[in-house]
Amino acid sequence: MALNASLLLLLLCYVLAIVNAADPDPLQDFCVADLSKDLTINGFPCKDASAATTEDFIFAALKNPGNTSNPFGVGVVPGSVREYPGLNTLGISIARLDFAVGGLTTPHTHPRASEIIYVVTGSLYAGFVSTDNRVFARVITEGEVMMFPRGLIHWQLNVGKSTATGIVTLNSQSPGFQFVANSLFGSGDILDEVLVKSFFLDENTMREIKSIFASSG
Ligand SMILES: *[C@@H]1O[C@H](CO)[C@@H](O)[C@H](O)[C@H]1NC(C)=O
Repeated sequence: MALNASLLLLLLCYVLAIVNAADPDPLQDFCVADLSKDLTINGFPCKDASAATTEDFIFAALKNPGNTSNPFGVGVVPGSVREYPGLNTLGISIARLDFAVGGLTTPHTHPRASEIIYVVTGSLYAGFVSTDNRVFARVITEGEVMMFPRGLIHWQLNVGKSTATGIVTLNSQSPGFQFVANSLFGSGDILDEVLVKSFFLDENTMREIKSIFASSG
């Protein structure tokens, strides 16, 4: 019995170690994604390596600011594998964030990546919450960098008097962006009772919040 228990524990540790690993290591120098093919378990199939060009490894979209004309005042220009196929299998991605005055990336997680933000211009109140609900947050300014550990809820709020811009890098080719409020109130399909009980809301307030998310897309 004791032996079985330790074997089980050993197996569990092994499984957890696998789950905690970042994107798998590549088995070749590069594997530029062939986006015309379906996503497989470890990314996209490679386009023929002999057909790879310098341009496959260059990404120009971050030259242009993201569109901040939305309720949260943040424009995201993503550079994950779907936009930047050259980083397929390499375990990295990049994005540009532009903030209107008061713009907020609402609390969200990247289930598959840790993140680093570099503040190019402006002042952001940036932070994350650990699983024991400790808050790590302060205003970061031009030239400063902050990291957000994998999977933890984090945000950035433009507290400056002008627009702000940040560049984020993430250690997954497909980090996933899950916005907490949108996922819970915007999906529409979660049983009302779950949201009412989770947030100590009355039914009417809960429906009101749901309808705001439904109308803001
Ligand atoms: C920015 O987004 C708004 C709202 O979706 C849209 O009306 C506007 O045309 C966009 N601006 C640019 C420059 O794409």
